[in-house]
Amino acid sequence: MCAVMTIKNTIWTDNNTPKSSVFDDIYYNPDNGLEESFHVFIDGNNLTDRWQNFSAQRFTVAELGFGTGLNFMTTWQAFEATQTDTKLHFISVEKYPLAKEDMARALSPWKSLWQERLECLLDNYTPDGILNTALSDKVHLTVYFEDIETALPRINQTVDAWYLDGFAPAKNAAMWSETVFSQMARCSATETSFSTFTAAGFVKRGLQSAGFDVQKRNGYGRKRESLYGIFKG
Ligand SMILES: C[S@@+](CC[C@H](N)C(=O)[O-])C[C@H]1O[C@@H](n2cnc3c(N)ncnc32)[C@H](O)[C@@H]1O
Repeated sequence: MCAVMTIKNTIWTDNNTPKSSVFDDIYYNPDNGLEESFHVFIDGNNLTDRWQNFSAQRFTVAELGFGTGLNFMTTWQAFEATQTDTKLHFISVEKYPLAKEDMARALSPWKSLWQERLECLLDNYTPDGILNTALSDKVHLTVYFEDIETALPRINQTVDAWYLDGFAPAKNAAMWSETVFSQMARCSATETSFSTFTAAGFVKRGLQSAGFDVQKRNGYGRKRESLYGIFKG
C-alpha cells in the first residue's frame, strides 16, 4: 500500500480559514463553507430529491478529497433531514489528512448545528490506512488515506454520486487526470451523477471522454460557473 504522508499540512489564514501548505489552496470558502458545500455537492447532484425517491437499500456517495470533512458533515445532515428508507455509504479519499485538532477547528463554526454528529466524527477519525465505520444506523463512512490513484481501484461498488473536490485543477492536476475519470466511469452506472466546483475546460473534456454528459450551472460565490452531469456510458 502507498505510504500516507503524515506531515502537518494545514495552516490558518488571518480569518481563521484552513489552508493546505502542500497546495497553497483553501479547503472551503471563507464566506460560508457550509452553504458552498450544499450548493456545489448536495444541489449539484440533486441529492435531496433523489434520496426521497430512491428505492435501493443503499445510496453511495464517493468524494475525491476528504479534507476537513465538511462535505461529509453537510451530506450527513442533509441525508438525516430527508424522509428516506435508504442508507448512506459515504466513501472518500485523502492523501494528506488533517490532524484531528485541525479538523475540529475547521468544523467548529458549525459545531452547534451538528452537535453529537461532529463529536462522533472526531471520535472515530483516525487518519491512517483506512477508516471504515458505521457512524449511525443509517450512515457508513469509508475513507482511504492514500493517493487517489491507488485508492480508486479499491472501490468495488457502484457509486450513485461523485463529489470532485480536489484543489484547483491548476494547482493539483493529479486529482483531475484521465486515470481518475476512467476509474470513476468504471464505478458508475446510468444515472450516476457528479458535481464539482470547477468549470475548467480540461476537466469538462476529460469527463466527457470518460462517458459523462457534462453541463454547466452557476458556481458558488465568486465562481461564475461549475460543472455537473450524469454518466451515460
Ligand atoms: C479542497 S480539499 C477537499 C475539501 C473537503 N472535501 C472538505 O469537505 O473539506 C482537496 C483535498 O484533496 C486532497 N488531495 C490532494 N491531492 C490528493 C491525491 N493525489 N490523492 C488523494 N487526496 C489528495 C487534499 O489533501 C485535500 O484534503
